[in-house]
Amino acid sequence: MATNVPGGTLTLADDLTISRMGYGAMQLAGPNVFGPPKDRAEALAVLRGAVELGITHIDTSDFYGPAVVNELIAEALRPYPADLRIATKVGARRGEDGSWRPSLEPEDLKAQVRENLTRLDLDTLDLVYLRLGSRDGTTDESVAEQFGALAELREDGLIRHLGLSGVSMVQLTEAQTTAPVVAVQNLYNLANRQDDALLERCAADGIAFASFFPLGGFTPLQSGTLTEVAARVGASPQQVALAWLLQRSATTVLIPGTSSVAHLRENVAAAGLALPADAIAELDGIGE
Ligand SMILES: NC(=O)c1ccc[n+]([C@@H]2O[C@H](COP(=O)([O-])OP(=O)(O)OC[C@H]3O[C@@H](n4cnc5c(N)ncnc54)[C@H](OP(=O)(O)O)[C@@H]3O)[C@@H](O)[C@H]2O)c1
Repeated sequence: MATNVPGGTLTLADDLTISRMGYGAMQLAGPNVFGPPKDRAEALAVLRGAVELGITHIDTSDFYGPAVVNELIAEALRPYPADLRIATKVGARRGEDGSWRPSLEPEDLKAQVRENLTRLDLDTLDLVYLRLGSRDGTTDESVAEQFGALAELREDGLIRHLGLSGVSMVQLTEAQTTAPVVAVQNLYNLANRQDDALLERCAADGIAFASFFPLGGFTPLQSGTLTEVAARVGASPQQVALAWLLQRSATTVLIPGTSSVAHLRENVAAAGLALPADAIAELDGIGE
């Protein structure tokens, strides 16, 4: 499927085509990803703008808000464009105080899938990630029971494709014995490269590697080298950080978050930025 968005598309498992330049919707909720957006009109404009700019991959979850972000997506984008692919995550719930609580019981995972379907007003979810780790890291604990629960919903036709988030190499290997894994979503950016080997493994297996916090998330990326390279190539540091990720492997996909139409435009333009080899070599040094 063609898109004009820079960065082109990636096709997974022969039938899931997404723009490599995607959009992460988490930042559309209120502070601490809890409650309504600070500027509702701008949030709706960002979602519509993403699609108008050619993005066909939006990353969300019903635990953003909770429910707030999925409801904004449905309001802004229904009827959904035929080529739009919405990826969501299950595996957590929010406390009344906004806290994040892992929720990985098989029956609750299935309930969370149904809540996503309802809130997004869809009959089938294109891509559902089982969210395992926290921002603090991953473990090698078995995921067979949890991933098996989602694989059942895939068999039932409620989910088209499965992914894993906050996952270790060992857990990925185990999950692949239950059902195909088309995408991995882990913390990764210029300064956080613990998952270099996992990223390479995903490229070798034809699995999308969607890095979360591509711009550093709640702790914006800061590096003298990044600032210098950005000035040299005539782009912003954020654009350079995104362009570096896109060229990092053939299966990296970008899901930067923003609540601003201006930043969205800048981020999309970054996917068309070709970094010279010397700039890439310097940037590679940041995370080592
Ligand atoms: N699987 C998981 O456990 C997990 C965890 C976290 C996030 N995620 C996913 O990953 C996506 C990306 O993560 P994220 O949104 O938290 O972090 P991020 O993309 O690394 O950074 C977002 C921050 O950068 C700012 N920003 C964005 N574009 C900018 C630009 N061009 N210039 C200057 N500042 C810019 C945003 O502020 P403005 O709003 O002002 O632009 C926001 O504060 C999320 O939306 C979510 O879908 C997944």
